[in-house]
Amino acid sequence: MRMVDIITKKRDGGVMSPEEIRFFIEGYVGGTIPDYQASALAMAIYFRDMNDAEIAELTRAMVDSGDTVDLSAIAGKKVDKHSTGGVGDTTTLVLAPLVASLGVKVAKMSGRGLGFTGGTIDKLESIPGFSVEMSGKQFIDHVNHDHIAVIGQTGDLVPADKKLYALRDVSGSVESIPLIASSIMSKKIAAGADAIVLEVTCGDGAFMKNERDAIRLAKTMVQIGKHVGRETSAVITDMAQPLGYAIGNALEVKEAIETLKGNGPSDLKELVYELGSRMVLFAGKAEHLPDARKQLEQALVQGKAYEKFKQFIANQGGDPQIIDNPERLPKAQHQFEFRASSSGVVAQLKADQIGLAAMLLGAGRATKEDSINHATGIVLHKKIGDKVKEGESLLTIHADTEDIDQVLEKLEQSISITERAEQLKLIRRIIS
Ligand code: URA
Ligand code: CA
Repeated sequence: MRMVDIITKKRDGGVMSPEEIRFFIEGYVGGTIPDYQASALAMAIYFRDMNDAEIAELTRAMVDSGDTVDLSAIAGKKVDKHSTGGVGDTTTLVLAPLVASLGVKVAKMSGRGLGFTGGTIDKLESIPGFSVEMSGKQFIDHVNHDHIAVIGQTGDLVPADKKLYALRDVSGSVESIPLIASSIMSKKIAAGADAIVLEVTCGDGAFMKNERDAIRLAKTMVQIGKHVGRETSAVITDMAQPLGYAIGNALEVKEAIETLKGNGPSDLKELVYELGSRMVLFAGKAEHLPDARKQLEQALVQGKAYEKFKQFIANQGGDPQIIDNPERLPKAQHQFEFRASSSGVVAQLKADQIGLAAMLLGAGRATKEDSINHATGIVLHKKIGDKVKEGESLLTIHADTEDIDQVLEKLEQSISITERAEQLKLIRRIIS
């Protein structure tokens, strides 16, 4: 088999055989296929697309390129959740303890964030003492006993994705649906998921800028799930504005605590119920979706999810007292109000710009080597569609410096107030 023949076949619109797909992935990871041939093939895939069978085989070959996590010592179905990313995305912090409180096994491998705000681990590390360092056995024991644990990246999962993503990033083929879908699904499958609930975001703050592309990506990932025997469904969400009110690590932990107490932003709660009810159903803990949702609502109201969160934090070295006293979380030195320059209705709160503003405050990383400031970030007081009076505070900036000119500039670009504007619909569609 010659790589050049595979490239020209795809270039001309042909369908790659399973053997050709494996030859490519194994050769590329093994170092016998050079970057220039791999990037030519990625570009051919970008233009010519792949059919469902090709995408499923590509995903399987990528999973087989490295280690996989063995969760067989955990009884029952392991359901994972993945989001293609939003700004101020506090979902996992609420969702994980909530579904775990209903007996769903949450065995989560999480990463640190790049960009806008931190990843789930960064957020949790705002709680003094909390750690994701543990042995594989401790991880399994926590999940079996208390139904929830979060561990950092272990082993060499999907090296094919690491290499191919880095290559796509510098050769113009990131925005290819078959390549994105196989990249995401291979990582979830390698991490041991039996079933997967996806949130595919669209809009300014997301990878997919429009809903049509988000739907195509979601359908592709659901099809991969079918082909490889993992139940998968997807919720399409609008990330034109940040999720909830808080953007920043400790600020989001505080928002999560409020939400676990049954308060919290309605959009965040709605998303948690949408995703959570599908996880509960996949895990076999409910008869149908309305039943799953009702159980989740009750677990929140009765404080079961809140107690589960405290147990989870304590299990991983964090101080559970902090959860009862969130004012003891890291706090920024300065707070500045950002006020409306006119009266009207909020029409725009551009998630990507607000995310960048939070990053400038230190809440996110520009490069992998950067450290994170857990205390800083932004708390919105208004969302799109809300009325506002001139001079009223639109948001509070939590900063560890008084020099916030760049932050203010970003915020000015991100917000607009008009005479009228509709509220946004967060949940756009379900693909299953
Ligand atoms: N996220 C991923 O994990 N992979 C992609 O290819 C794009 C976004
Ligand atoms: Ca939030």
